[in-house]
Amino acid sequence: MRDSFEKDKARFERYHLVLDDLLFDYSRNRINEETIPLLCQFANEMGLDRKLRQLFNGDKINISENRAVLHTALRNAQAPIFTDGKDVSVDINETQKKLTNFANQIHRKTWLGATSKPIKHIVNIGIGGSHLGPRACVQALKDYAINDLSFHFVSTVDKTNLLDVWNKIDPETSLFIISSKSFTTIETMTNAETLRSLMQEALGESACSKHFIAITASVSKALAFGIAPECIFPIWEWVGGRYSVWSSIGFVLLLLIGEEQFEAFLSGARIVDQHFLSAPFHRNIPVVLALLSLWYLNFFGAQAQAIIAYSHLLRHFVPYLQQIDMESNGKSVSMEGETISYNTGPIIFGGEGCNGQHAYHQLLHQGRHFIPVDFILIDSSEERVLLKRHENLLIASALSQATSLLKGKTYEESYLALLDKKIEQSIAKQVAHHQVIPGNKPSNILYLKQLTPKNLGMLIAIYEHKVFVQGALWNINSFDQWGVEQGKQLLPTLLDAMMNVETSAIDPNTLAFLKYIREKSKT
Ligand code: F6P
Repeated sequence: MRDSFEKDKARFERYHLVLDDLLFDYSRNRINEETIPLLCQFANEMGLDRKLRQLFNGDKINISENRAVLHTALRNAQAPIFTDGKDVSVDINETQKKLTNFANQIHRKTWLGATSKPIKHIVNIGIGGSHLGPRACVQALKDYAINDLSFHFVSTVDKTNLLDVWNKIDPETSLFIISSKSFTTIETMTNAETLRSLMQEALGESACSKHFIAITASVSKALAFGIAPECIFPIWEWVGGRYSVWSSIGFVLLLLIGEEQFEAFLSGARIVDQHFLSAPFHRNIPVVLALLSLWYLNFFGAQAQAIIAYSHLLRHFVPYLQQIDMESNGKSVSMEGETISYNTGPIIFGGEGCNGQHAYHQLLHQGRHFIPVDFILIDSSEERVLLKRHENLLIASALSQATSLLKGKTYEESYLALLDKKIEQSIAKQVAHHQVIPGNKPSNILYLKQLTPKNLGMLIAIYEHKVFVQGALWNINSFDQWGVEQGKQLLPTLLDAMMNVETSAIDPNTLAFLKYIREKSKT
């Protein structure tokens, strides 16, 4: 890449795509004019076009759960979309209206709690897709807040998370959103039950009806919990948890930014959907992003993919992408049920730019691993000279990392640089070995002119479709997650063993561990 970057001055021109406010620069990849066409030929041979239309058409492509996968319908409900003979756009629009009306009551302070006070604190109780997307988007779009509501997230069952939130809020002015498609996830239900008890202690038995709402596919379980019927908002079986931020699960975002901007958020995803459906594969951003990553995973033996967002507002974004990618494509069985012998979903890691440079980038530059990187860059129309300097430094930092990954540093360059610093020759000869950077490491840049609701919607949809394309080409089901089920099955027995170490039915080694920690906790 270093040589081609130096010789070919037109790589950026040739290897970048633009969609609305998004620039996708893939010039820093191990590709030439043949590579993308060949990978697109592979995509055609794997029937990608047919498969992506099945996605949008509501075919039951989630074969192990016999479900359609229609998160795309959530942002394209302007026209009928049928699955199982039912037009889901009707339910989507009806629910969106209900949510908007409820949000308006909160915003206009006409929804009053048990002590007739309006709501100030919003507590989202959820985990996985019922937490990561909502939290990442609320964090990212905080500058678009239309009110002074404060937002809190309780996800893990560690009491510290719950108590941190409980100690920050005022029970009389708090609304708890139990976000759970299944309404059985033990972390979420445990947190919800504890917060219900705390609220009943604080405000009396009636606390539930005015301070708890539910977003779920299981209305009966929500009613049994004590949620008032008018406070239950549906999510449907054909919306995967990790793809649900566009649905009622995104209610916290609707509360933060309001109806107009939430529609803008949906419109960003819609723009990407239309691009994904219409652009030829070699000019299709999710497809090219997916093909490049697949190229490295299956032809260069890459195991991981770093995603580094040079944006403080996107500091919770990578854990969200981790779930979308790893819970979708962390599979090893084909659609036909055969064991797969090739790499599938990458290990997604990364986080906030600049910080990473002083943490794990060392391994990216000089480690033995071959790890492609996606840099996400966010610009803004910052006018204040003092602050514009920060933005320039942020973008220049990302470019410095991308350049170093690509260019590296030869032994000769290291040696001469040491001599320039007047290092004695014999020492320079030694030390230079340690300063060599292999280079030739690929990276993509996804640049957004500004972090608006529309642009955030675009960015998320691009990664959703990138994951879809890879799953389709690997011939796997990206939409179930049986791998996490066994842990859930084992939990009750282990929980019981924690309480009754003597009578437990668990293996002797785990039992010995429990006995040890039980004894330890007594001293
Ligand atoms: O991790 C398994 C999983 O089912 C995720 O797919 C989902 O987002 C999360 O748990 C929460 O599930 P629920 O919304 O049903 O509580």
